[in-house]
Amino acid sequence: MNTRKAQQVITGQATTDGAGVDLVRVIGQPALMDLDPFLLLDAFRSDDPDDYIAGFPPHPHRGFETVTYLLNGRMRHQDNDGNEGVIEPGGIQWMTAGSGIVHSEMPEQQDGLLEGFQLWINLPGAHKMDRPAYQEYDATSIPTESREGTAVKVISGKTSQGTAGPVNQPLTDPVYLDVTLQADTEFTENLVADHNAFIYVINGEVALEDVEGGQLTLARDQLAVLGKGDTVTLRGGDQESRFLLVAGKPLNEPVARGGPFVMNTEAEVRQAFIDYQSGNF
Ligand code: FE2
Repeated sequence: MNTRKAQQVITGQATTDGAGVDLVRVIGQPALMDLDPFLLLDAFRSDDPDDYIAGFPPHPHRGFETVTYLLNGRMRHQDNDGNEGVIEPGGIQWMTAGSGIVHSEMPEQQDGLLEGFQLWINLPGAHKMDRPAYQEYDATSIPTESREGTAVKVISGKTSQGTAGPVNQPLTDPVYLDVTLQADTEFTENLVADHNAFIYVINGEVALEDVEGGQLTLARDQLAVLGKGDTVTLRGGDQESRFLLVAGKPLNEPVARGGPFVMNTEAEVRQAFIDYQSGNF
């Protein structure tokens, strides 16, 4: 077995997006522009409505998937194809934007805590223009695997103990786990050796091996890029901790970004703007 080690530690950058939502950009900022196939990771957590109430009014996407995972609060989603729904705490919305979608993502609350993540996952060039699609699951549809001192919510992928998440995406074969560790507990999981992977600490502290063979401790809101290997071991601190473990198959294709469009070439990005502005989404 080849153990994955922490290769790079990223602290997110505070930024504002949508109509003025305060969030922390973890992937998709200068310190980590992407981690193929992951293009962006935003974390939001606030109990001040001024930070989130403006939401994300209608905006387009083309060429990739947006994955919204809510821990607290409620978000209403609507698109230009008539789809509408509310993401509830513990729920996931895995949206394949494909050839193009125009949607809004608005807080369905006037106050209280709003907490969650949005992850962007790239699509290979041959599938960027596929029809838009959704995989939506509420908290009760996401299995929790219980291990000693550990609870693993499996959103996507299959654990070494056989628990499979409801979301399927064979193009990037993603693993998306939400892991809670009791104090002083160790968690080991297998990953496909050459897939890219990261952990992001939600609460508490999580320790793992670094590339120099030492122990690295990650605090809340820190991300570690994991080096290649077929297994990863993470240790909780002296308090309960919680983190995301995410992995996926790299596409190894050119990435051309233009705001809400992610294509292979600049010409395709320009075409996306033209198609959107001429109402062809
Ligand atoms: Fe969006």
